[in-house]
Amino acid sequence: MQAIRERALVCQKCPHLVRSRTQVVFGVGSLEAELMFVGEAPGAEEDRQGEPFVGPAGQLLTRMIQAMGFSRETVYIGNILKCRPDTPGAKWGNRPPRPEEMETCKPYLLSQIEIIRPRVLVALGGTAVQGLLGLSTTMGAVRGRWHHLRGIPVMPTFHPSYLLRSEDAADKGFSEKRKTWEDMLKVLERLERPVTAKMRGYFQKPSPGGPNG
Ligand code: URA
Ligand code: URA
Repeated sequence: MQAIRERALVCQKCPHLVRSRTQVVFGVGSLEAELMFVGEAPGAEEDRQGEPFVGPAGQLLTRMIQAMGFSRETVYIGNILKCRPDTPGAKWGNRPPRPEEMETCKPYLLSQIEIIRPRVLVALGGTAVQGLLGLSTTMGAVRGRWHHLRGIPVMPTFHPSYLLRSEDAADKGFSEKRKTWEDMLKVLERLERPVTAKMRGYFQKPSPGGPNG
């Protein structure tokens, strides 16, 4: 993994991204992880820190991981694209990766997956579903059901940024988080991990001190 990381960190395959990036955001976590999360691409905070999912969406993902009984250190977290997509002229905001950027970057992710060989992959959002499974459909149509990549079970679920955006619609926010949590309960069952009655009830409604509190 170290050799692949070193190659990725100096990758020049997308000259426009080489120019705009602060650094390459390769991935983080355990090489022995049985659970691996795949997101879309680094955002501004990830580009600054060099670590995936450390901004607002990352904080939500971290809480989900902890609610599952794992930590950021015991899972592996990576992205389809290792560089932050450039947004020339824009002062804020992100853009989704382009198909040719995804294709160019994909060998790095496939190597990460082959080295780790997790027991379960979680695809976070539409870009990860497209990149891992080649499916361009709605999240509603693919989430919550098992798919496969090279013999590894893949669970597609909503992207944490989407969950943050749907928080604005108060009720929808909880129903989308709850659906995501139900997908994660399926992951835990597949991994034969303990699921308590309390865990089954998470993300139903705000509870002070709970994972959404
Ligand atoms: N969103 C992603 O898809 N990946 C990150 O690393 C951060 C935000
Ligand atoms: N569409 C996406 O691409 N991702 C989500 O998480 C939800 C809708």
